[in-house]
Amino acid sequence: MNKEILSGSFLAHDSGMSVIKNGELIKTIIFERLTREKHEGGFLIDSFLSELSKTELDSVSFSQFLKHDNDDHIHAIKKEVKDALDREVNLDIQYSDHHLCHAYCGYYTSKFDDALCIVMDGNGSAFKDKMITETESVYTFRNHKFDKVIFKKYISVDNFKKIYHKINNLKIDWSCINVEDIIKILDEDISIGQVYEYLCILMGMSGHDAGKLMGLSQYKNHKSKLPEGYNSLEWINKVDASYIVQKKLEDRVFNIVEEHIDKTGIKNVILTGGIFLNCVSNYNLVKKFPDLNIHVDPMCSDNGISIGNALISYTKKYGESPTRIEGSYHGSSEPLNEIKSFGCSYKTNITYSDVVDLLINGEIIALYQGKSEVGQRSLGNRSLLFDPRVSNGKTIVNKIKRRENYRPFAASILLEYSHDWFNLKTLDESPTMSYALEAKQKSLEQVPSVIHVDGTSRIQTVTEKQNYHFYNLIHEFYKKTNVPMLLNTSFNLAGEPLVETIQDAVNVMHRSNLKYVYLPEINLLLFK
Ligand SMILES: [Fe+2]
Repeated sequence: MNKEILSGSFLAHDSGMSVIKNGELIKTIIFERLTREKHEGGFLIDSFLSELSKTELDSVSFSQFLKHDNDDHIHAIKKEVKDALDREVNLDIQYSDHHLCHAYCGYYTSKFDDALCIVMDGNGSAFKDKMITETESVYTFRNHKFDKVIFKKYISVDNFKKIYHKINNLKIDWSCINVEDIIKILDEDISIGQVYEYLCILMGMSGHDAGKLMGLSQYKNHKSKLPEGYNSLEWINKVDASYIVQKKLEDRVFNIVEEHIDKTGIKNVILTGGIFLNCVSNYNLVKKFPDLNIHVDPMCSDNGISIGNALISYTKKYGESPTRIEGSYHGSSEPLNEIKSFGCSYKTNITYSDVVDLLINGEIIALYQGKSEVGQRSLGNRSLLFDPRVSNGKTIVNKIKRRENYRPFAASILLEYSHDWFNLKTLDESPTMSYALEAKQKSLEQVPSVIHVDGTSRIQTVTEKQNYHFYNLIHEFYKKTNVPMLLNTSFNLAGEPLVETIQDAVNVMHRSNLKYVYLPEINLLLFK
C-alpha cells in the first residue's frame, strides 16, 4: 500500500493541491494555471476529484479555508465529494495553520537540520472566533523535525478589514500630495505585508502587485531615470512612498531575524511567507548578517501552502519525515516524446546552437519543458528568453510582455561564472531568483537589459544538474558571445498566469508577437 497524501489549500486566493507519495512530493497544482485566472481561489471540485481518483487514498487533508471557513461550507464540500465518488473514501479532513504550512514548505525545501524558520505574510489563519489572525511566526526545527513555536504576532481581523475598506474608498491625487500623509494612513496595527498591499491599492495597482512597488522603490536615488510615462510628479511621489514602505519592510525583517538568532543561537535561517518574495530585502539581509546561513523558500508565496500542508499531514499520518524537496519544478508536465505540430509550423532536429543563433539575431524565444515552476519565478521550464546585451532589450521584450517599463527583467547565469558578474556576498548560489544581487562592472557594461536602475539584478544561477537543457542552452550562448547568461522572464502575458500546458504556450504565441516556442526535450521549434 502506498503512503499517500492529497492536500488542498482552498484559500481566498492562490488555491492549490499537492500529492505526496511515499515521502516524495509528486506534484502541485496551482488552480490559476487551470482556470487561467490569476490568483484563482476557492475550491475546484472537478480537479480535486480527478486527483483523488488517481490515488489509493483513504483520507484527505485540507489546510484552512480563508474564504469559506465555516463548518457548514466544509460539510457541503464533504457531501459534494462523497456523492461524486464511486468508492468509499473517509474524508478525514485535517487542518493545519497557514503559517505552519509555510514553515514546513520552507524547512523541507532547505538542506538544514536545525533551523530557525521565520514566516511573514499579509495574514494567515484566524483564531479566537476569527477575532485575530497570525501575521508573523517563528518556529524552530531540530533533528529533521518540527520542534516548537517560539514567537507569534497576531493582529485584529476587524481592524485590518476596516483599514482595507477605508483604503479602497480613498481617491488620491498623487501629483499633489504629501507622501508622509499617505504613509500615516497606513500607520496602523496591521502587518507589514498589509502595509505593502494597501500602498499598492492606494497607487491604483492590485493588492497582488507588491513586485511592481518593490521595483519602483529602487528609483529613490535615480528619479531622473524614470522611463517615459513614469517621470511625472505623480510617479516621483509614488517612488518616495514605495521607498519608505520598502525600508519599513526591511527594518521589520532585520529586527525579527536579529531578535531570534540572538535568542536561540541558531545560525540556519529559513525565510518563508509572501514577504520573502522581496528579493531586495533578502539580499540586504544577506549583506547585513554575513555569518548566517540563509535559505529563502522558493515557494514562499501561498502557492506553497498545499505543499506545506501535505508535509504536515504526511508526518502526522505515517510518523516519518518526508523527503527533502529540490527547487520549484513541481507543477504539471506533459510527456513530450514525439514530434507533433500542436497546430503550428515547426522545425525538427533543432540544436542549442540553432536557438542561440536566433537569440543573437534579436529574437525572443519561449522555452517550454518538463514540470512547470510552482511559485512566482520562471526558472527555465516556462520562460521567455532574450539576449541580455541588447541595450533596449526591456522595450523589445515588453512588446510581448506588456509590462510597465520601470520594472526590471531577471537573468539566468551559469553558476560557475556568476561570481565574476554579480556580487553574491556570502551566498554560494542563487538557484531560485530569491535575491536582487549587485551587478559587477562587467555586468553594468555588457548586459544592460537585465540591470535595474539601482545596479542590481534578480539572478538565477543554473547548473547542469538543476536544469540540463537550460544550462546547455546558456552555455552555447556563452560559447558564441562570452556572456554566460540570458534574460529570463516568465512565459505568460501581462495579467495572466504562467503557461502550464503546451496548448497554453501555443495560445500565447497566437495572441502576441511571440514567434518561437522551443521544446528541447524533442528538439522541436514551433514557430509562426
Ligand atoms: Fe501566506
